[in-house]
Amino acid sequence: MGHRAAIVGAGHTRFGVLDAGPRALLRGAVDEAFASVDRGVDRARVGEAFLATLGFGGWQIGNSAAVLAEEAGLPGVPVTRVENACASGGSAIRAAVRAVQERDVGPVLVAGLEKMTDVTNARRRYWLGVSGDTEWERLAGLTFAGVYGLIASRYLADHPAGREALTEVAVKNHENGALNPKAHFQKRVRKEDVERATRVADPLGLYDCCPVSDGAAALLLVPADRAKEYTDTPVYIDGVGAGSDSLAVQERPELTRFGATRWAADQAFHAAGVPRDSISFLEVHDCFTIAELLALEDLGYAPPGGAVAMTTSGETRRDGRRPVNPDGGLKAKGHPIGATGVSQAYEVFLQLRGAAGPRQVPHPERALTHNVGGAGATANVTIYSVG
Ligand code: COA
Repeated sequence: MGHRAAIVGAGHTRFGVLDAGPRALLRGAVDEAFASVDRGVDRARVGEAFLATLGFGGWQIGNSAAVLAEEAGLPGVPVTRVENACASGGSAIRAAVRAVQERDVGPVLVAGLEKMTDVTNARRRYWLGVSGDTEWERLAGLTFAGVYGLIASRYLADHPAGREALTEVAVKNHENGALNPKAHFQKRVRKEDVERATRVADPLGLYDCCPVSDGAAALLLVPADRAKEYTDTPVYIDGVGAGSDSLAVQERPELTRFGATRWAADQAFHAAGVPRDSISFLEVHDCFTIAELLALEDLGYAPPGGAVAMTTSGETRRDGRRPVNPDGGLKAKGHPIGATGVSQAYEVFLQLRGAAGPRQVPHPERALTHNVGGAGATANVTIYSVG
């Protein structure tokens, strides 16, 4: 990889059921990102901007990146919308890193946004469904909860102890979310709440699912060798990787392994030139509890089925050997589609600078984010360091 990029500022709205419209959410996250830069960034010097959004609800289907330029106060700046469903944020970060590496641009703004809660339940199902395979999944009535329910059924058939691990993912991520003032759910849940919850798509219950959320997040990136002009504690992006797989899960050789994640992880670790063991904590894409187990295995932290013991042993808790989703994950922090991948990097920015407050992971040096589109059709992995 050419010279590295660094994050020098980050912003984040509250995630949840919010009154604010999409423009106000975008403005909120972007203004906070600019305000967070220790020595400031002049908006007139921003060279390029990327907006990650699905355009949920159809509020602005085409050309929505122009709205980012308007709301960020960046007239004339080249803007690009990046859409890879739930992986849009990670894909936009990757595009921004490349812009920093390849072109002599000023600071690059990356924002992620989704406004999901102001439509009826039926419209919500439609807008969630548009990112799944149309012929075999969406038109057959299969929702994402349904697809991940099938994946979980297969996983539990192969690894029967897995149900306890799914419950632990929900309990752990809600506990972390309870310490995150920007999370959609800031409440703990007990093991028995998870086990007795209404079934959504068997074996997945309410607490195995991420919610439908509104929210936005934003980052400011600069070349690593310029980063100290903006702050004494930049967070470096050492490696990015991306991958894809067939859109319909039925086309894949295995239901319980996501090739897109494996390819993305191999590229990111190769680019960063660091071993998996050097990562202090992970932000993984837990849209459903089963997805956190698959992530640990596909990222290379456990063999197939090994995520069960890794999770139930407490290793992935905030005070465990390798914390996973200290911000509450998609499960508790929420999942406003386009904002999610950017929000993961926001958490890394706080944690690596020791600024995560009560949910701070002890002395992290390196972190990884993992952001998946749909049921594994696209994925991004990014590796960060500080100091
Ligand atoms: N976890 C915990 N609590 C949840 C929740 C979740 N995922 N979703 C909703 N709730 C809570 C609400 O806060 C509300 O609580 P209250 O009664 O105390 O106010 C209650 O459950 C009912 O909320 P409602 O919005 O009516 O739920 P719903 O039944 O319409 O939706 C799901 C629940 C799980 C179906 C919905 O959240 C969903 O579709 N999630 C998945 C989204 C998705 O697929 N994203 C893409 C991933 S690839």
